[in-house]
Amino acid sequence: MTEKPIITLLAVTSLDGYIAKHSGHAPATWASPEEQDHFLTRMDQMDWSVMGRVTHEAAFRPNRKRVVFSTLPEKPEWRTENHLWLNPDGNIQDTVMDQFVGASSVALLGGTRVHDWFLERNLIDVIELSVEPVVFGAGLPLFWHDQWSGFQRIDEIIPAMAKLGFDVEGGVRALNMNGTKLMRFFRQK
Ligand SMILES: NC(=O)c1ccc[n+]([C@@H]2O[C@H](COP(=O)([O-])OP(=O)(O)OC[C@H]3O[C@@H](n4cnc5c(N)ncnc54)[C@H](OP(=O)(O)O)[C@@H]3O)[C@@H](O)[C@H]2O)c1
Repeated sequence: MTEKPIITLLAVTSLDGYIAKHSGHAPATWASPEEQDHFLTRMDQMDWSVMGRVTHEAAFRPNRKRVVFSTLPEKPEWRTENHLWLNPDGNIQDTVMDQFVGASSVALLGGTRVHDWFLERNLIDVIELSVEPVVFGAGLPLFWHDQWSGFQRIDEIIPAMAKLGFDVEGGVRALNMNGTKLMRFFRQK
């Protein structure tokens, strides 16, 4: 049997659980330098990434292997030698997973509907979450899910993740002195 790569959702959220205030609101404009360094280090360790069209176009990287979700292509389409565009409304799970044969690590990079697509299919192994000490009040959540909304303290995130099927491992790590935290959650066995 072919080994499935580890699929890691890598994200930074506000304290209240949002990945952006609105579509187009990029983490580079509000996340801390330490978080961004951490993100870039982790991305260098990834073989593939998956993201929605907006995230792909906002951070175009010709040399990175990517699956891009979009309703635009009628069928799977390689738009560059490294970028496969797919319409996730179709029956494409096997096509997505086939790309990762031989890979050991895949990053999920947003937005929310991409996270939901993988969560619904039970395909996420690890969630690596940075939390910045900012409150957005509204915006695009990490997941569109009843269990995920309106946090006021970081320790509310851990039980919410447990309800989504992920347990924290290694506790809460400080990324800097300003309150940016990092947590790793693993899918419950
Ligand atoms: N904080 C973080 O860690 C983090 C991570 C990543 C992104 N972001 C930010 O979060 C925001 C995300 O915005 P967004 O939600 O508009 O971005 P997005 O998911 O990157 O792009 C949305 C587009 O992707 C396609 N798509 C994604 N999932 C789909 C699905 N399940 N079914 C059909 N189409 C799907 C659609 O493309 P078509 O319109 O072509 O059909 C949709 O309009 C951006 O500002 C980005 O910078 C934050």
